[in-house]
Formats: sequence, structure tokens, C-alpha cells
Amino acid sequence: MTSDELRNAYLDFFAEKGHDIIPSASLIPHGDPTLLFTSAGMVQFKDYFLGRTVPANPRLASCQKCFRMTDIESVGDASHLTFFEMLGNFSIGDYFKKEATAWAWEFVTERLKLPPERLWVTIYLDDDESFQYWKDIGVPEARILRFGEKDNFWGPAGDTGPCGPCSELHYDFGEEVGCGKPDCKPNCECGRFSEIWNLVFTQYNQDENGQRTPLPRTNIDTGMGLERTVEAITGKTSVYETELFAPLLERVARLCGKKYGIEKETDVAMRVVAEHGRGITFLIGDGVIPSNEGRGYVLRRLLRRAALFGRRLGLDRPFLTEVARVSIEHMGHVYPEITQREDFILKLIEVEETRFEETLSTGLELLDGITADLAKKGKSEISGKQAFKLYDTHGFPVEITREIARERGVTVDEAGFEQEMERQRERARAAHKFELKGTVRVGDSLDIKTSCFVGYNNLECSSTIVDLLVADKSVKTIKEGQEAGIILSSTPFYGEMGGQVGDTGEIIGSSGRFSVSKTVRVSPDIIVHQGEVIRGSISVGDEVKAIVDVERRLDIARNHTATHLLQMALRQVLGEHVQQRGSLVAPDRLRFDFSHLEALTREQVEKVS
Ligand code: GLY
Repeated sequence: MTSDELRNAYLDFFAEKGHDIIPSASLIPHGDPTLLFTSAGMVQFKDYFLGRTVPANPRLASCQKCFRMTDIESVGDASHLTFFEMLGNFSIGDYFKKEATAWAWEFVTERLKLPPERLWVTIYLDDDESFQYWKDIGVPEARILRFGEKDNFWGPAGDTGPCGPCSELHYDFGEEVGCGKPDCKPNCECGRFSEIWNLVFTQYNQDENGQRTPLPRTNIDTGMGLERTVEAITGKTSVYETELFAPLLERVARLCGKKYGIEKETDVAMRVVAEHGRGITFLIGDGVIPSNEGRGYVLRRLLRRAALFGRRLGLDRPFLTEVARVSIEHMGHVYPEITQREDFILKLIEVEETRFEETLSTGLELLDGITADLAKKGKSEISGKQAFKLYDTHGFPVEITREIARERGVTVDEAGFEQEMERQRERARAAHKFELKGTVRVGDSLDIKTSCFVGYNNLECSSTIVDLLVADKSVKTIKEGQEAGIILSSTPFYGEMGGQVGDTGEIIGSSGRFSVSKTVRVSPDIIVHQGEVIRGSISVGDEVKAIVDVERRLDIARNHTATHLLQMALRQVLGEHVQQRGSLVAPDRLRFDFSHLEALTREQVEKVS
């Protein structure tokens, strides 16, 4: 059975059991700020488990693209991957343990024809119910093992969310593969056993404090590792020997002129290059762009790690586009988005890898110098400053410096590095510190009150003056002709933020009138109305009317809508990779920054407009 056949067999089997087949979601979880990446099949169904929304059919199945950073340093051994595919069947308050175990057994023994004597089962410590179900199916008691939280409690994905005890199916590759110890059993690290399928009995929701409360209903969430299962059904002993990786390794071997399967260290480097090359293809395909934080940083780290391992194979010129090309060729029929975005993926890899290559040699030389110097002095720790310089000037993510250091028997002063990073963040903060031109400066020291924004539905409201700012000081009263900043208890004025300019208008009290020439949001809940007193005086505590310039607001709103239309048009003309990177929305114009790797041609500009 090939990987294509396995995907189909799995989804057909669960369709026969009444499941709706749901396409893979993006690696970037939609509307879920708690997660960096889609790390399991259940991620796109989280709201169903939590009872927030109800699916049309409570039985669902999918083959989901997944990405996990947890095992990155183990990539290159027989089984660990960052990017992988997960087959899964899900019950949203419908069937539970009995059906989930029975169907899992039926699928692996009857459809995949894995020999029952090679299958072991693990269950959560006190889960006697599962024990009974597995026993009734015919699994010998001696092959049903109990483990604790670490191995047999799954989730949540991220810090919070659905979770529960689980039961796993492990495949035994045979005594000859393992460590030979008499107590070798599933979860032994030696590689004899591989966990191929995890059945989670999703019963709890875990909150920020680690507190677990029962979910409205009991659910099933399963995850079968596609690569590991292909390995088991095709009688291989490593995921890298399966047809999923063979073409990638072949291309890497051809590029570096070395043979795979001769020498362990070379094999590991080739596997890392193949695995990471495939991973970056999918990350970029789903819209991740290299950067110094969040998802972009993970992508950058993965790409640079692959480039460094390539160096070990003698690849000293950019080569990763070749690995991406093979990934697209072999997986594009399952995940068409990587084919659709092929040009963009290749271009982005080329640009990022070339940029890294330019500083790589000097960075490596610097690192050589540092380690040689440490050896001379009998020391074994790279200072935080040195690690920071490698990161800041030469683009070495600290994790990579740490890895290279470890190979050379030295460590990195992590706390010192973090201190340098904090200093850099501080410098960036200082550079961005908000300044209101000529009139008020809202510094960190000023204790100003918060204001409530009511301007989505109102363009006018009654309010109270809670603070008045002149230069960087709070004052009690401002008089005609004076420039100042006003903070209101609530305001209909939109404060400039995220590229959309703020509103203008008037603030009118019983003893004076203030013309608002600019409104800025200086923190999520502080909105400052900047302008000038045009009549009388205004004092803290005054009851006032705040009135937005309606025409101008409507012009801004129209231009805001236009940015969405423009984005749509750009996607249609240039491709789905186009993403917003920034924008300026003003009453008389708009600017839209987007991701695309080269200048637009005249024809493209015309087509877009
Ligand atoms: N959600 C099940 C698993 O990731 O194993």
C-alpha cells in the first residue's frame, strides 16, 4: 500500500462508518491565537469539542497537515519529523471508546492487514473500560500496558483546550530492531516499537491555570501518523525509507554527490535537509514568511538549520529550492496549494537562503574563533554577547548556535543572550515611543486613565474629560489658543492604529470648544484627542459632547473597504500567496503593503486596478 492508498483507505473506511470527510486545514490555525501551528487533526475542530459550535455531522474524518517544533532536534533519527500528516477520526459527542477501539482494530488488522501479533496497546493507568474493550476484541492482556499522564494523557494542543486520557496502538518492528533488553516494550526509546495511532478520549477542557473541567459531552479525537504507518505497512524501519522521503533523499544525494545509507552522520544530515526542506515548502505554501518572531522565526530557523546541515554535506551554494521542487512534485496532488504557489515558494526560499549564505561563512568563522578561544582559556561557555552578535549580525538563531556549540562540547550563556535580546527590544521600544507632535508626549511615566471606544456605532456621544495633557504633563484646565491632548471617559473618535488614520472633529463643553485635529490610540485603552482650544476653556471633570467629522470618517471607511477589494484583486492577479503586510488608510488615499517577491509589471498593475 502506498501513502496515497493509505490516505484513501482510511478516509473511505470512516466514510463507510458515517463520517464526513473534511479537507486538511491550513498549518496556520484559523482564528486561534493560542496556537502557533496546526499540530494535530483536532485543531480545526476545537470549537466543536468545546461545544461552541455544532457540526452538521458529529462524525468527522480528515488527513491533516501538521507541524510541531517539539521534536526538531530529534529530526534525522528513524521517526521524528516537524512536518507530518495525521489521519484522524472524530466524534463530537457521538460514539465513544467502544466504537473507537473496535474500528481502530478493524482498520489496522483487516484493511491494513498488519499482523495482530505485532500490535501492542497502551492505556491510561485506571482506564479499565478501555482495557476491557481491547481484551474483548482479542488483544492478549500481556500486550495491553498501562502508562501515566506523560504517555497516555493527550493535550491540550497549546496551553489550553480539549484534552483527555488516551489509548495508543504501537507497532512492533521485531526484536532484531530493538535494544534487546528483556524489559523492552512500547515507549522504549530504542526504536523497536512505533506509536502509530493515538485514540484520545476527549473529556476535559484545560484552562490557563491547568485546571480541567468536564466538557459538555465525551468525544473522540484520534491521530494516526501517516508516515509511521506507511513505514509499518511497507516493512521499512524508518520513515525516511518510505516512498514519502525516498525521492527527497535521492535529490539531496544527487546534489551533494554522496550516497545515502553508507555513513550514519551523512545520512542524518541528508534526512534533516530532506525533512526541513519539505517542512519549509508547506509553511510558505500556507503563508508563513521568514521574520524574527513567531511563525516567521520558526520558518527562518528551519530553513537556516537545513542550510547548515547542507554545508556538512558539502553543499555550499543555495540548494533548498531543489528540495522544495521535489516536495511539490510528489505532494502537490494531495495538497494543491503548494502547486498553486510553487513560484512564490521557490522564490522566497531562494531569497532567504541566499541572504543567509552571504553571512554564513563569516558567522561560522566567528564561531570557530570563539570556540578555539574558549578552548585556549579552558572555558566552555559562549557569552550572551557573542551569541547575540551571531544572531543579530550573522542570522544564526540562538537554537542553532546552541546546537553547534553542543557538538563542540561548549554551552551558550542563555540568560546572557536573553539579556541582550531584552536590551535590543528596549532600544526598539525607545525608538517607537509615541510622540504627539509639539504638544503632548505620552511617556511611560504618565498615569493617564483609560477610555472606552464607542465609535463603531456612534459618531457622537456625551462624555467626561478624565485627563488633559500639555507637553508631557497632566493639567487641570486648558484655555483658548492652547494645544493639548484630551482623554475622555468614552469616545466615538477612532484612534490612529494599525495604519488607519484617526478621526477629527470637535469636543464641546458648556464653557469651551476644542477642535480635534488628530486622534491616536497610544495603548489598547488610551485614546488621545489632539488639537486646540478654539473658544473658552476646558477642565477635567467637564461634561462634554464629542462629535466626529462624519464626512471624513466615511471617506476613511470607503478607503478601508477599498484595501480589502485591492487585496482580493492582487490575489487574483498575482496569486494566493499575496498577504497584507501593512497599510495606510486615510480619507484621501490608501497605501497597501503586500508580500510578493518582485515588482509588478505594467500589465499586472492595470489588471489589478
Ligand atoms: N490529537 C491526537 C494526537 O495528536 O495524537
